[in-house]
Amino acid sequence: MTKTILATGGAGYIGSHVTLELLTSGYEVVVFDNLSNSSAKSIERVSRITNGAPHFIEGDVRDASALDHLFETFSIDAVIHLAGLKAVGESVAHPERYYDVNVAGSTTLFNAMFRHNVKHAVFSSSATVYGEPETMPLTESSPTGPLNPYGATKLMVEQILQDITGASPGWRSMILRYFNPVGAHVSGEIGEDPLGFPNNLFPFIAQVATGHRDLLQIFGDDYNTADGTAIRDYIHVMDLARGHVKAIDYLLANESKENSTPIVNLGTGVGSSVKEVLIAWEQACGFPIKSEITARRAGDVQISYADAQKAKELLGWETLYDLPRMCKDHWRWQKGNPEGYR
Ligand code: NAD
Ligand code: UFG
Repeated sequence: MTKTILATGGAGYIGSHVTLELLTSGYEVVVFDNLSNSSAKSIERVSRITNGAPHFIEGDVRDASALDHLFETFSIDAVIHLAGLKAVGESVAHPERYYDVNVAGSTTLFNAMFRHNVKHAVFSSSATVYGEPETMPLTESSPTGPLNPYGATKLMVEQILQDITGASPGWRSMILRYFNPVGAHVSGEIGEDPLGFPNNLFPFIAQVATGHRDLLQIFGDDYNTADGTAIRDYIHVMDLARGHVKAIDYLLANESKENSTPIVNLGTGVGSSVKEVLIAWEQACGFPIKSEITARRAGDVQISYADAQKAKELLGWETLYDLPRMCKDHWRWQKGNPEGYR
């Protein structure tokens, strides 16, 4: 029988790709999103690409009665909880918003799952929980120590989900720690659409490439790396999306196993510097992208990349796409949709 997955935040950048991948893998999907940082057009486009309409309900994860109504309307087998706020700087300026949406929103959702006997959850966490790491690559047991309220909310929800799952018969959950998601679906129809000033490297370069921004500021070339710029583990959003399907397959296939909450890194295991990313982008676009070196950005870590072994062993998941492909797919989306979904 077809299983039905609730994707909170399913209209967002990662959620829309996860929804698409779930649909093409034979799952039914209910998207629940308040559209505070996304557009319903992403869901329309996912429907068009897959010929299989996901159900869409506009609502807020802090709204218990909206969640009750959803769980009464649909028979949900598992939840992927992507909804949340994700801007590091905003979380420093307005931590109250982050504790409210990310933490209170998650407990409201988990309580609704209790009321409706839904016992499987996948949670979108982040490599940001590792803070300033001492050794590389980062394994799931590397020390945690988030450097800002956003990271703190992710670590708190990890703990809450582990405690609930451990204490509740029949519950089985998984925590996915994403590294740096980039790229877009090969159709060029869905992709990242930041509202306002882009904080992250790929969407910023993409807007320089379309002429919406003058130049890329490279935040620091005095790091202790080969070319002096900081290193991250960029992961194609479709590889990430496939990781979610594997996580759901795993939880639903192992119903009888004891309740547990594995933590799994989703990264490639390969680090790329800002300058390497810029070169790959220039090759993808076929023209130079203007840049200048500026001071380091406060709070940035020098190097971050994953040990991706656990995902391979537990889920049989490995990434398929390299940096040139990430840039090519991100550029196709941006070029075809220079104003995003607007
Ligand atoms: P996104 O902003 O595109 O998606 C989040 C979605 O959640 C949006 O559609 C937004 O409208 C929705 N949302 C926000 N508050 C809500 C609320 N109160 N109720 C219902 N819906 C709400 O961001 P994304 O990049 O797709 O991130 C998805 C998840 O992955 C987030 O939890 C984020 O913290 C996590 N994550 C993202 C990254 C990244 O670099 N993009 C890295 C690690 C983890
Ligand atoms: N960078 C620039 N110029 C820019 C933007 C970024 O040089 O205009 C550099 C940054 O200094 C960093 C690298 O590019 O060295 C990547 O920066 P991003 O902002 O794209 O990514 P971060 O690793 O800093 O952070 C992202 C998300 C976090 C998340 C983390 C790990 O913003 O929310 O990845 O998943 F927690």
